[in-house]
Amino acid sequence: MTKPIYIRDVSKDDLPALVNIEDRTTGVSRLEYWKKRMELSEAIRPHWTSLVAEMDNRVVGFIFGRAGELEFGLPGTVAWIEVIGVDPAYRHKGIAAELMEHFTSSAHDHGIHTVFTLVSKDNPEMEKFFAKAGFTQGEMLHFKKEVAATL
Ligand SMILES: CC(C)(COP(=O)(O)OP(=O)(O)OC[C@H]1O[C@@H](n2cnc3c(N)ncnc32)[C@H](O)[C@@H]1OP(=O)(O)O)[C@@H](O)C(=O)NCCC(=O)NCCS
Repeated sequence: MTKPIYIRDVSKDDLPALVNIEDRTTGVSRLEYWKKRMELSEAIRPHWTSLVAEMDNRVVGFIFGRAGELEFGLPGTVAWIEVIGVDPAYRHKGIAAELMEHFTSSAHDHGIHTVFTLVSKDNPEMEKFFAKAGFTQGEMLHFKKEVAATL
């Protein structure tokens, strides 16, 4: 039988779990970054854009995003997914799909009908994950410029 997945808003107590999941996913431990990220979420981001997933009474995944109004010349408001991660020991159990479902349905409940994200071309797994979740390639162009030191 599949275990239940519980989705809720993130809280400060989740900090160690978030740092741990990222550390075991990327090999980078960013306690200070997550502390600031959490403060930012509490200060200016709608609560529904920062969610965690629990299974076995522990935090096993997260999704962080934001709502952007009239940005990049776009009409209306767009919900952005900035980062999503699932504990390596809990993958392929539908946890990210459940986080995504909560995020997108909350966006819809708040009158937002478009969700954006960026995926690295070097990350086919994320590409497949977002494609499975119903995302298609958008019309925006991603520009970048390497900035050289001037001194
Ligand atoms: C991508 C990721 C979020 C998926 O989490 P998950 O909980 O295992 O995903 P789900 O079980 O909800 O999968 C939903 C669908 O996405 C697709 N999918 C998930 N993981 C996939 C993978 N590794 N490769 C290809 N497709 C994948 C599958 O189609 C799956 O549907 P299916 O099980 O019916 O086939 C997870 O692998 C992850 O956290 N990866 C690292 C992401 C990262 O670097 N985040 C930033 C720092 S933490």
